[in-house]
Amino acid sequence: MPSLTSDRLSSANGLLEDPPPYHLYWFGSIVLAAAFAGTLAFCPPVLAEPTTPAPQWMAFLGRFHPIILHLPVGVLILQVLIELLCLRSATEYRWGPVALFILFVATAGAVKASIYGVFLARSGGYTDGGTFFMHQALCLGMTAVLLVALFLRLSAMSSGGKGTMHAYRGALLLCMSLMSVGAHFGANLVHGSTYLTKYAPPAVAEAMHGFENWVLKLAPAKASDPTEPKSNDSPSKTPSNASPNPSSTQTPPATTSGGKDKLVFQDVVLPILEDKCNSCHNADKDKGDLRMDTHELLLKGGSEEGMTVIPGKPDESLLVQRVMLPLDDDEHMPPDMKPELTPQELALIKWWIQSGASASQKVADSAGAPPEAKSLLTP
Ligand code: HEC
Repeated sequence: MPSLTSDRLSSANGLLEDPPPYHLYWFGSIVLAAAFAGTLAFCPPVLAEPTTPAPQWMAFLGRFHPIILHLPVGVLILQVLIELLCLRSATEYRWGPVALFILFVATAGAVKASIYGVFLARSGGYTDGGTFFMHQALCLGMTAVLLVALFLRLSAMSSGGKGTMHAYRGALLLCMSLMSVGAHFGANLVHGSTYLTKYAPPAVAEAMHGFENWVLKLAPAKASDPTEPKSNDSPSKTPSNASPNPSSTQTPPATTSGGKDKLVFQDVVLPILEDKCNSCHNADKDKGDLRMDTHELLLKGGSEEGMTVIPGKPDESLLVQRVMLPLDDDEHMPPDMKPELTPQELALIKWWIQSGASASQKVADSAGAPPEAKSLLTP
């Protein structure tokens, strides 16, 4: 029926008086916007570690955030592809309703991920530092822009306005940019900020860290906390010195030159903790209130203060106790099937604690180390 086609075509161009009704989409979009705004009003995003624990239902739902967020990410990529098909009005007629459907699904997913993310932040453990701040700000911003985009597309399709369609495409583009940066900071929260760049060519890693640091500067000073040493600092930030931040810790500077001056803590123990533990115990994420990214913070301990490492008493030190718990114990460290300390690494840490857990002990003075640990103590 060619006449129908041409009628509908002109509808896409705004010439027909009677465009197809989108009542259900309007209704659904208003519900989504209300759910988003209502949640933020009822449960404002946190900017610092919450002092009161979240209710149990909220903490429970919050834990679905890392699963749910993959839906809008994937669907939005599909959205961009289908939007390319819709660039011409003839194909907009054919694909527009499909694009609207996909956009609606993506927005619903983003709203849901945002709500659960706000819940998760309320249950604590992530909320220190600029990485969290930027993740939350960019991703909530992205959801807001996506809602605007949904309304723009709906009105463009209802009234046929070309200008509205252009505004919609701009909003979608903005949304994709916010999402790619915001989601990246979210991943850094979970995996640590060097996860993605660890095996990248140095130039790429440096460019990415440069960009990250530039974005992080936009976070308020309190959130980015620049005086705090960060465990996962990029090598480019501390190029000549592997020590996180000598001014705020008692840890002597690392001696990357090797040889006799290598230090047991800085050059052997700390890299093990960085590798196996500090994705969760760092400046961005201090699980159990514990950070182990400097000697000072490690000895300060976590929620059980001063217990993590008790100099001279490895078997009473919480660090050793938690690592030695059976794998299926809830308190075993590291949790969640993360890579375990090897027997050699554990023996080395126990020996280091036994001999006083000092920051200045040299690898050269390690004659008394147990045989298993010796392989890790090569000068
Ligand atoms: C996947 C994240 C994760 C990793 C990796 C991880 N931890 Fe933990 N750690 C936690 C969480 C969550 C807590 C707080 C809940 C608890 O006490 O079990 C915690 C608590 C602790 C505590 C108790 C702190 C206190 O004073 O209450 C110690 C000690 C500890 N971890 C040591 C380690 C060591 C050592 C490693 C590396 C071998 C490690 N953790 C790796 C998540 C992690």
